[in-house]
Amino acid sequence: MVKAAVLGASGGIGQPLSLLFAVSGLVDELSLYDVVNTPGVGADLSHINGKAKVTAYLPPNDGLQKTLEGCDIVVIPAGIPRKPGMSRDDLFKINAGIVRDLVTGVAKYCPKAFLLIISNPVNSTVPIAAEVLKQHNVFDPTRLFGVTSLDVVRASTFVAAVVGGSPTEYTVPVIGGHSGETIVPLLSQVSPKVDIPEDQLDALVNRIQFGGDEVVKAKDGLGSATLSMAYAGFKFAKSLIEAAGGKSGIVEPTYVYLSGVPGGEEVKEAVGGLDFFAVPVELGPNGAVKATNPLPQVTDYEKSLLKKCYEGLEGNIKKGVEFITAQG
Ligand code: NAI
Repeated sequence: MVKAAVLGASGGIGQPLSLLFAVSGLVDELSLYDVVNTPGVGADLSHINGKAKVTAYLPPNDGLQKTLEGCDIVVIPAGIPRKPGMSRDDLFKINAGIVRDLVTGVAKYCPKAFLLIISNPVNSTVPIAAEVLKQHNVFDPTRLFGVTSLDVVRASTFVAAVVGGSPTEYTVPVIGGHSGETIVPLLSQVSPKVDIPEDQLDALVNRIQFGGDEVVKAKDGLGSATLSMAYAGFKFAKSLIEAAGGKSGIVEPTYVYLSGVPGGEEVKEAVGGLDFFAVPVELGPNGAVKATNPLPQVTDYEKSLLKKCYEGLEGNIKKGVEFITAQG
């Protein structure tokens, strides 16, 4: 029996993400939680003739507790999205508190669940989640994941747009964080190998780093990526559920607490001691099994990108940690 919960299920990401779960055949119960509209979203999804039993809750009458009890996997896309001109960091003020409160629920009601954080700024909300779990003495770094899959999905699409072929052909390691210059595509390590013309390299890197802005601009005030994010978030969740079910050899890039993941210490040393960093991580029955270290092979060009990434991430991580530790 697999129970999954989506917190923020009525939102732009939450609805299509819940739909993908409902039709996936991967979960036996899908539990939806939001501060608005979950009865409607739940009733709608419950008519799908899939195997998932859909339950839906609002905050009153212990809604969060009922959503989370017995959960194996919890995905959090709750919180406000960007409007034109906003950075992901601008969302911190509102989303930090939302993530803190929801993760407190996870710590109390399903501390062993895999926890996937989509809410931005991911660079800071994942450290917030880790601190909350630590405060409740239930932090297991192999079960906490910042979802950076959309950067990876975008990267293969944008690489294909430059070199031709189908986006599905390319696996692009994207490491670092999930915001502007903290997003570092390793185009020298694309599989299969690609040759990016030198005069197109800067533009391609920039497109991968700031691809989200294209959607924010096109939506013109109505939010950021939702459909591609739901796809990317579900792709990661599916990998995790399949790995937990015994499928081996699954590797997904994700933003993790390095010290607690096998192989992570080596990465931590290579990235100047940062506690959180996205790298390709092998998944297994208990979550993160091994962080891989792509840093020894990076080019000088990628080193210059990484320098900016480290500077940005350091502040983002500190901000998240201090948001919780300052509250005692
Ligand atoms: P949205 O505004 O459409 O939906 C957010 C939902 O969260 C709403 O239904 C709202 O009622 C709900 N919510 C607010 N406070 C809540 C609480 N305390 N408990 C439960 N639910 C609550 O926003 P959208 O477009 O779905 O984006 C959600 C988040 O995902 C944003 O922070 C956005 O920046 C982030 N995002 C992350 C990406 C990534 O790659 N990790 C990509 C795109 C967006």
